[in-house]
Order: sequence, then C-alpha cells, then structure tokens
Amino acid sequence: MCGIFGIISTKPDLVVGRQIREGLERLEYRGYDSAGIALVNNGKIELRKKSGRIAVINKHGWFDSTPGQFGVGHTRWATHGKPIQFNAHPHMDCTEKIAIVHNGIVENYQDLKKELLLRGHKFKSDTDTEIFPHLIEEFIAKGFSLKDAVIETVKKCHGAYGVVVIHADTPEYMVVARKESPLVIGIIPGETTYCASDIPAFLPLTREAIILDDDEVAILKPGEVEIFRVYEGTQKEISPFEVSYTMDAAQKTLDGVQFPWYMIKELHEVPQKIKEQVQIPQTDLDEFCKGIMESDHVFITAAGSSYYAALAGKFQITKFGGPYIEAILCSEFIDLVPNIPKNSLIIAVSQSGETADTIEAVRHARDKGDAKICSIVNQIGSSLTRYSDQVLVTTAGPEIAVASQKAFCTQVTALTLIGLRIAELYHTLPPMEIKAYRESLANTSSITKQILLKQGIIKELASKLTEYNNIYFLARGISYAAALEGALKLKEVAYIHTESYAAGESKHGPIALIEEGFPVIFVAPPDQTYSRIVGNIMEMKSRGAIVYSVVSDEDENVTSISDYVIRIPIRKNKYAVETSIVPFAFSLQLLAYYISIKKGLDPDKPRNLAKSVTVK
Ligand code: M6R
Repeated sequence: MCGIFGIISTKPDLVVGRQIREGLERLEYRGYDSAGIALVNNGKIELRKKSGRIAVINKHGWFDSTPGQFGVGHTRWATHGKPIQFNAHPHMDCTEKIAIVHNGIVENYQDLKKELLLRGHKFKSDTDTEIFPHLIEEFIAKGFSLKDAVIETVKKCHGAYGVVVIHADTPEYMVVARKESPLVIGIIPGETTYCASDIPAFLPLTREAIILDDDEVAILKPGEVEIFRVYEGTQKEISPFEVSYTMDAAQKTLDGVQFPWYMIKELHEVPQKIKEQVQIPQTDLDEFCKGIMESDHVFITAAGSSYYAALAGKFQITKFGGPYIEAILCSEFIDLVPNIPKNSLIIAVSQSGETADTIEAVRHARDKGDAKICSIVNQIGSSLTRYSDQVLVTTAGPEIAVASQKAFCTQVTALTLIGLRIAELYHTLPPMEIKAYRESLANTSSITKQILLKQGIIKELASKLTEYNNIYFLARGISYAAALEGALKLKEVAYIHTESYAAGESKHGPIALIEEGFPVIFVAPPDQTYSRIVGNIMEMKSRGAIVYSVVSDEDENVTSISDYVIRIPIRKNKYAVETSIVPFAFSLQLLAYYISIKKGLDPDKPRNLAKSVTVK
C-alpha cells in the first residue's frame, strides 16, 4: 500500500510536479487518503502535501506548479497516524534539507524515535516513517555520503520499506532502498530515471525497467542507475527488462464502450479473461501438478478474495483426484503452522503478488521448513513470483478497481484447470469425464457473458437490497466460497454489514438474528448440497427471513420457496453444475456493484481500502 513515484531527469522542458502528480494518479489504487510532493529547488526542498484524493488536492494545479528540478511524490494508505495533512508524506529532517517517502512499516520505530527525541530531534508527525529523515540527517552530520547514510539507516530499521530519499544539497542524484515493499526503477538511458512502487507509474514514459530486490540500495541519476547490496556493500550488475504490457487497462473503455467505473468495465472483461485462462497450454500446469502430487503435505494460502478462490480451488483439486489440501489464511499461517512438515508444498494465490501476509507465509514456509512454493499470481514480476519455485500467471490482466472481481474469476478457473490436469496426468478420472469438465469450464466464459446481457433482475434486486444494513449469505460445499466472495464484495463496495456462513452452520447460532424481514442470500446450484440447502431455506423462511437465491436457470424447488431469484444459465448436467462456481460468484459481484451505484458510492476506490496490502 502507498504509492511512490520519483523522477530525476536532464530533460530541459520537464514540468516535474505535473509528471509526478500524473504518475501518482496511476498508483492511487495503492492508497488514496492523502498525497504529497517534494522537489529539490535550487538548494531547498519545496514540499506540498494534504489529505484527500490527488485530483481534489491538485484542483487548481497545486501539485503541478511545485517548483523544482527533481523529486518524489507519495499517495498514502494510513498505517501509523491519521490520514491528515501532517502525517502525509514526504517527511523531512530537522534541517529541512532531506525529504523522504516510504511504503511499509518500520516495526522498531518507537525505540528509534525515543532515541532521536533524546538527541534533540523534533518530530512533526505520528508516522513511523519520520525516523528515516532524522537518522539520515545524523549520519550525514557524521560525514557519511547520502548513499551511505541511507545504508546505515536502513540497517537500523526492522520491518518493511520501499523508500526514496532526496537531499537539497545533492542535486545530482537521489537514493532508493527496498526491503519487502516493492520498488521498481524505470529508465530512459542517458536522460531520465524514475522510481515507483509499481510499473504503471512510469509505463507511459518508458518501458525499460529494473526491479530492486530486498536489502538493496540504488543511486538514481538522470538516465543512470547503480545498485548496491546493503549488507555485503558490493555493487550489483543491473539487468533492465522490457515491460510487455500496455496502459490500455487504465482506460474505462472496452470494445468501444465507455463505462462509468473500472469495476463494471472489468466485470465486462470477465468472459474474455476466463476464455484466455482456459486456453493456457496444459503443459504449463505439469510442474504444479507434479509438486502437488509428490508432496506429503499441501497447503493453500491467500488473503481476501484470493483466499476464497483458494477455498474453491482446493475443493476442485481434491474432487478431481488430488490430495487433501489445507487452506489457511496467510495472515494466520505462521501461527497455525509454526513447524512446516517435511516435503510440504505451499500454493500461494494472489492478484498483486505483493500482499505482505502472503509473502510472510511463503517465506516462513520456505525458510523454516524448506517447503516448495507454487504461486498463482496475476502481476508478472511481482515480489511473490520472486519467492516461488513455480509460478502460474492468471490472465486477468491489470485490475484497477480496488475490489477484486476478474482476478477472483481467473484464479478459480486456474485452480480448476490444475485439478483437471492432475486427473489427466494421474488417471484419477476417465478421459471422457475430464473432457466434459473442461468443456463445461470453458463454457463458463459464455455463461458470464449471458449474465451481463441479462442484468435487469440483478439491478432490480440491487434496488431492494440498498435499504438493508445487515445481510446473511448462506451456501454449502464449494458454493460457500461464492457466498464468502459475494458477502465481502458487498462490504467493500456498498458498506453493508454482511456475514457469510456455511448454511448448515447457521442453525448453530447465526439464526438467532433472524426476524421478520431479515434478508438472506442463498447460493443454491443444483449440486449434491441442493436438498440440504432447501432445508436451510425453509428454516430461515419460517422465522421471517426474506430469501434471495441464486439458482440455475431451470430451478424449481428453491425458486418456489424464495422471495426473489437470480437465474444462472447453466446446462443441466453434473459437469456444468460442478464447474459453475465462477458464474454464481460473478452474479454476486455484479449485484454488489449495482448496490454501490444505487447508494451513490465510489465502487472503484472504497474507503479505507487499497489494492495491494503491503503491510502485515
Ligand atoms: O493481491 P491479493 O490477491 O493478494 O490481495 C488479497 C486481498 O487483499 C484482496 O483479495 C482483497 O480482499 C480485495 N479487496 C477483495 O476484493
């Protein structure tokens, strides 16, 4: 979380403030509670920062008109200190010569701050970040160069950081450092160097990029980069690469249609993205399958929607003949599995590949237990891919809306493909069945397309559901993952309190809340759980619940006992039913979007959230 963008250039006509502001806007998905810019301007630091979103802060060109030759900007997702002006980045030292932006958390900042206060430093914010400029100030006062001062400073800091440091008296370069928080460098050789938390910040400006690794510090000069290892003190050879993707995703236009929000544009991309996912070469899955089948213990870990995709995936892999897989939230992983069993495999699922909790789980499993890591990641080149033995890239492409939707759909599809490939390689299902499942999975692309063509009922139900403050989502089996995803989406983009339970569990407590008019949404495909779901619906109805059900097109029983239904056009055979979780979940993602819109909210940037959660 938090977006960082810095520029140093020899380009004579460059309006640095404006270019940094534009880059920060491309990173706003990482945090958007406050923003700031600091530029070196003829031996002084020019600092501008405020709470709020960049477009509002810059309404009269406040950021764009910042005077200066080079510098850095930051868009914040608050961790330490409220999202108010004095906690916004950049932060400065006592001499006001050094400015710094930071993404991550310095875990020992309280001790460091205490020491700095005792030595007379004045702090102006509640952030952990502010220890950086004061420590650097001290090392510089002792005669260290800016680069060496940054190296000595980061050695003192425990935790995660991506930092960019500028100094008013060092106009020829700036310094960046990284540990566990992403930092990428863009370069136009001989002219300009950029640094950012993510590639889109500089993608319209250059496609040549370098990824900084953990425990590395870099000196950035215009069009020139030098990288050093913090602990070894040695210089590393740089290896730039060409970024292959484009910024098309940054438009709200799809196939000539202009959408009002990224979320609905990206929901319209789902049919195509599923199609691309099912078309990946089967052999790309072989190493993954081998790893799963040859390990003694298989864990799957992720956060949020990716965790729900993992739950669905684990269900499919086991059903198609794979081993039992233990699903663990990544934030719980190190506590629940302190000792990693021998010959373990961890499947980590992540859209961003930057989620700090997922990375922590994977590093723990790898470093403490020598586990093999197989990741399903959407962002090519992200940190998680660097900690993995095998990577399967999902085909969702850049997802800009903060809430996951197409990423979830492609993750579930990818995991289902792995299950089917295991069935094929290890002969756990007859070839005819594998073929039938694969065809049905491919057909989910067309089902999601049909759902998009018939959104009338979803919009109608969205109007009814806007009036509620509390909603239950109930389901059984694999559909429980769809219910969890639907409930999370509604919390995130519509600010409605939702709870999702395995339907059988509802009578063990949650049913106490049911009274006349309480809304309950059931996910009820015609699978082996169907008759039990009918029973759960009756239990809710007889206590006054208003029942909304997501059912198959030809459903009769659940429909007859529900107040409202959303119909999913699936074929009437077991293969179609057992691969239909994505269309069921997709209809709930769409429902959440329309509820958000009806409530007049911003579905793309919900309050308090960020797209990449890079803090633990
Ligand atoms: O980038 P990741 O897939 O690792 O992110 C995991 C969660 O932070 C993410 O799914 C989050 O829950 C979304 N806001 C869900 O819409």
